[in-house]
Amino acid sequence: MFLKRLLVKKPIAELEKETEEKEHTLRRVLGPLNLISLGIGAIIGAGIFVLTGQAAAQYAGPAVVVSFILSGISCALTALCYAEMASMVPVAGSAYTYAYVTLGEFFAWVIGWDLILEYLFGASTVAVGWSGYMVSLLKDFGILIPDWLSNSPLVLDPDLGWVKTGAVINLPAVLVILGATFLLVLGIRESAFINNLVVFIKILVLLLFIIIGVFFINPQNWSPFIPSNNGAFGHFGWSGILRGAGVIFFAYIGFDAVSTAAQETLNPQRNMPVGILGSLGVSTLLYVVVSMVLTGMVRYDRLLVPDPIAVAVDSTGYIWLSFFVKVGAVAGLSSVILVMLLGQSRIFYSMARDGLMPKKFALVHPVFRTPYITTVITGVVAAFLAGIFPIGILGELVSIGTLLAFVIVSIGVLVLRYTNPELRRPFKTPLFPLVPVLGAAISLLQMLSLPLGTWLRLIIWMFIGFLIYFFYGSRHSLHGR
Ligand code: ALA
Repeated sequence: MFLKRLLVKKPIAELEKETEEKEHTLRRVLGPLNLISLGIGAIIGAGIFVLTGQAAAQYAGPAVVVSFILSGISCALTALCYAEMASMVPVAGSAYTYAYVTLGEFFAWVIGWDLILEYLFGASTVAVGWSGYMVSLLKDFGILIPDWLSNSPLVLDPDLGWVKTGAVINLPAVLVILGATFLLVLGIRESAFINNLVVFIKILVLLLFIIIGVFFINPQNWSPFIPSNNGAFGHFGWSGILRGAGVIFFAYIGFDAVSTAAQETLNPQRNMPVGILGSLGVSTLLYVVVSMVLTGMVRYDRLLVPDPIAVAVDSTGYIWLSFFVKVGAVAGLSSVILVMLLGQSRIFYSMARDGLMPKKFALVHPVFRTPYITTVITGVVAAFLAGIFPIGILGELVSIGTLLAFVIVSIGVLVLRYTNPELRRPFKTPLFPLVPVLGAAISLLQMLSLPLGTWLRLIIWMFIGFLIYFFYGSRHSLHGR
């Protein structure tokens, strides 16, 4: 009985009804290009602008290009599963809703709670990275933001535990989140417009980097292309390429955020797969070419810096391009924050509609037609986290949370093909069941490669989630009655 209650499913017919509702619901305005742009908005950010250097210098050398290809292929497997689910179940809420329909309420809760790690913590992580680039850009203009106002007040020391840094707050990180929150409350159309603009700038910057950088490539920098392993697993050689792929994974996070906007999409059955797969395809291509040019311009062992692309540009002597790269990074990171906050608020909205969160969370603003309550709550919590915590601790939680969601979605696609073969699937993953099986297995392997501390934090986080579910969610659920 208890188990049956936990595994209660949300009927697909009900989803279809929700999809057709017109009154007091979200505004359906996003077309395929907007969706691809939303995806690129969420994907291209700190990964390419910050982590590429670290992955090349410490783990893979010039073969970081191969790390990018491997990580891209593994994400493509999951992206195909997301595309199938999103075309089948086109309402807001993404993986949370898919799990509700396929695996049952308890799994839906697990994934909804887990996705908070991806989107809410993701927005905070990237905001901390944004703050670093912004402070450096302002400095170029002679505007100095003091350290105590632009750093995390706490850091986690491996020996001493949490230590105070003397800073009070990371103010730029707080402000960028509050700005994005304001925009999201104002409207989906306005948010999509600004996102398109920002995505245009960041793609332009990366293309300029490629076009100019090609002329500064010294092929000797690519030799050896795979530096030999230095004796420790993960430091160069093939194991280094694998470890590099694990670090680079962060760069791909975000394609799934497209699926959270299904309820604001025109013809979602067709456009969702286009948005998810299109944005991942464009980003992968850019990543591979940018990392190739980058490691050709600068020897990999000089790339252990927080701004590798800017360092490569400095070697060209074009001062204006270096300025432009910083603008591109600031713009790029701000759209990641915007789309992550968008995703989080839509997930809370869906959970509230199902009764698993307080009903008030599902209120839609009468004029702006946005879920303003969940948007503001998400923004305030994300701003708090970004203002206080350092980037590393947040980033690892984001990766493990995202990978868990990938595992559940891939399994969901697999299960649903057997349990409900009759359902209409406007998009089907090819090579079934290989794609979902491999997608789940590779994501699980990547989870296993993360440090024990991250696992412990995930377990504590999920435990808090269980308590909330058993004391609140399961008692108020609309479908479990
Ligand atoms: N993929 C996103 C980034 O690299 C999270 O910033």
